This record gives sequence, structure tokens and C-alpha cells, in this order.
Amino acid sequence: LQFWKPAAASLLVSLPAQPLVCAALNVTVSPGPVVDYLEGQNATLLCHVSQKRRKDSLLAVRWFFAHSSNSQEALMVKMTKLRMVQYYGNFSRSAKRQRLRLLEEQRGTLYRLSVLTLQPSDQGHYVCKVQEISRHRNKWTAWSNGSSATEMRGVSSHPVERGSS
Ligand SMILES: *[C@@H]1O[C@H](CO)[C@@H](O)[C@H](O)[C@H]1NC(C)=O
Ligand SMILES: *[C@@H]1O[C@H](CO)[C@@H](O)[C@H](O)[C@H]1NC(C)=O
Ligand SMILES: *[C@@H]1O[C@H](CO)[C@@H](O)[C@H](O)[C@H]1NC(C)=O
Ligand SMILES: *[C@@H]1O[C@H](CO)[C@@H](O)[C@H](O)[C@H]1NC(C)=O
Repeated sequence: LQFWKPAAASLLVSLPAQPLVCAALNVTVSPGPVVDYLEGQNATLLCHVSQKRRKDSLLAVRWFFAHSSNSQEALMVKMTKLRMVQYYGNFSRSAKRQRLRLLEEQRGTLYRLSVLTLQPSDQGHYVCKVQEISRHRNKWTAWSNGSSATEMRGVSSHPVERGSS
């Protein structure tokens, strides 16, 4: 017996396609593209997010670090869609971790990374990558991504030189 009906097949292919993930989120890091700080200061980097595709979506916010523009990016810290903060790699060691803060300043739009008591090794590129996620057909689905970076520099290991007269 033949139960397969062509009508059923065309119904299947006409179901809405899975949403395409595209880089539609507007993510901007400030200050940038370069920011100067002195050793011992606290750095504050803001990650602004706009142009979400869905009202009810949640965001996953990740900050990456690279010593220079041609070195590998390392994941530092992430705020999950449920707003839990997780530290990664070198940045999960207590000495580093205690100097890092990731906070949601404004729900869904503004995330602050603080690097406290700057050290010369903190100089480099900081990249904020954001992913927009929501429930779709009972599954977590990524709707769009965005990223932006800033370069932190000028963190000097030398005390300011004084006149020698
Ligand atoms: C969006 O970000 C996720 C997680 O970082 C990544 O796996 C995915 O490839 C990205 N998609 C696009 C289109 O960039
Ligand atoms: C993206 O957001 C930034 C600040 O949050 C804003 O200045 C800029 O105009 C926005 N870009 C677009 C294309 O909307
Ligand atoms: C840096 O931030 C910490 C924690 O908020 C604070 O205790 C400290 O006084 C700040 N240091 C400077 C130099 O602002
Ligand atoms: C992590 O630590 C190792 C060993 O101390 C070092 O070689 C590496 O450069 C560090 N990575 C980052 C991203 O700081």
C-alpha cells in the first residue's frame, strides 16, 4: 500500500525555514578605538547593544582579549543568557578574576567590563561579542550576532620620570 501523498511532501517543504543567524546586532565598545590608562587605574569598557531582532530575546555577552592584533583571542569572561558570569582560562585564576567585573548596567543594552588596578600585561585588544538568543519552537535559537573591539594601551610599568636637576 502507498500511504505517501505528494500533498504531504509539499506541506513539509513549505514550513518556515529556520531563522538565519546574521550579524544584525549593533554592538559598539566605548571608549574606542583606542583608550589610554595608567598602571593602577581602573579601566571601564562599555559594550552597547542595539537593533535586537526580537523583543523577548536574551543576550549572551562574551569578552575576548588579545595581546596584539595578530595574536590569538582568548575568551576572558561571559555573561550567559540567564545572566550568570563565568570566567575562562587564565582569567579564571583568582589573581586575574578578582580584577575583572562584568555587569549588566541596562537590561539588554549596556554591559560594563571593569579591569581593576591595571597592570602592564592588561594592555591589548578587548573584544565584546554578543549573541541574541530566544526560544523558538521549544529550542534555544541564535537570531543574530555582533561584535566590537577597543585597544587599551599606555599602561606603563615605569614611574613617571622626574627632572634630575
Ligand atoms: C554567532 O556567534 C556564535 C557564538 O560565538 C558562533 O558560534 C556563530 O558562528 C556566530 N554566527 C555568525 C553568523 O557569526
Ligand atoms: C550603533 O550604536 C551606536 C551606539 O550605541 C550608535 O552610535 C550608532 O549610530 C549605531 N549604528 C547604527 C548603524 O545604528
Ligand atoms: C578601583 O575600583 C575598586 C573597586 O571598585 C576601588 O576599591 C578602588 O578604589 C578603585 N581604584 C581607583 C584607583 O579608582
Ligand atoms: C596565559 O598564561 C600563559 C602562562 O602564564 C601565558 O603564556 C599566556 O600568554 C596567557 N594568555 C593570555 C591570553 O594572557
